[in-house]
Amino acid sequence: MNLEELTSRLEGELARARSEIDKISDGDGLDELERSLLGKRSALSDVHQAIKDLAPEDRPAVGKAIGAFKEQVAGLIEARRAALGDGRGEAVDLLDLTLPGRGPGRGHLHLITQVQQELEDVFVGLGYEVAEGPEVETDFYNFEALNMPASHPARSMWDTLYVKLGRPEEVLLRTHTSPVQIRVMESQPPPVYTVMPGRCYRRDTLDARHSPVFHQIEGLVVDRGITFGDLAGTIDAFTRAYFGPGHTARLRPSYFPFTEPSAEFEVTCFACDGVGCSVCSKTGWIELGGCGMVDPNVFAAVGYDSERYTGFAFGFGLERMAMQRYGVEHIKAFFENDVRFLRHF
Ligand code: PHE
Repeated sequence: MNLEELTSRLEGELARARSEIDKISDGDGLDELERSLLGKRSALSDVHQAIKDLAPEDRPAVGKAIGAFKEQVAGLIEARRAALGDGRGEAVDLLDLTLPGRGPGRGHLHLITQVQQELEDVFVGLGYEVAEGPEVETDFYNFEALNMPASHPARSMWDTLYVKLGRPEEVLLRTHTSPVQIRVMESQPPPVYTVMPGRCYRRDTLDARHSPVFHQIEGLVVDRGITFGDLAGTIDAFTRAYFGPGHTARLRPSYFPFTEPSAEFEVTCFACDGVGCSVCSKTGWIELGGCGMVDPNVFAAVGYDSERYTGFAFGFGLERMAMQRYGVEHIKAFFENDVRFLRHF
């Protein structure tokens, strides 16, 4: 063998060593391979023999090439040993076939859905039924039948989002759950004891307590001899059932076109227990919704006889209920879907 043949022989040996090393999958096999590649009786013994036959000035070059070859092979073996986890047989122990598989994580209901279901349960316990209506409504159900004819100034209480359907400004995203009152009364004669939960929309700017998408639960009772006392008693019973016996509610005179008289429903502030703080604008109370005695014009719109029947209605915001009960300080937490928040409840 001359110098050239020897160097190309070493190159070939290195490629072979690399592929042998890659095939090994345990520490013992690697030790054995190391001996056969680098040990006394390695495949290189004939190269060592051949050195003797070379011209003396070529010998140092071959010696150097052999040294480099050994260093590279040793490096490859070390790298492989590290990849296998350096101990003997450890790579096999890592795989425990008796472990159960990792299934998909199990989620749970969104806090607003939980609040909605719990409120439904409270009212079902009081003898109510549960009904739902569409989120995309017509002007008739959202305004007209609720005693708000076109251009009625009270419409400005609800900043609306219209849908491109039908006549201009005929179809809209409902601004409250009150249109479901009309749908329920259209579908049955009195008596009515129904709650109507659902999603609502308004052209509102996001702040701590307003969101353009939110949820309400509406209540409607129509029967003979229903008075404002029944409304107040119902609100009181519901406040105790939902927030706990220590909590109180109050009604303050207000205005809604579909109830007369009308009131706002407020509960003691969760953040300060009624003392007055920034969450409740220093009043000690948080407004949760509106209520009142059903206006006779609403009964006329659905063909109920307002001489024989009276009734009350209410509508509360679910996000505000949840904020009140769980101390959530910004309404956007319900819509951001941050799993750290969702997991909490
Ligand atoms: N619909 C009213 C609102 O969204 C609340 C309300 C419901 C008031 C029923 C009175 C009776 O503000």
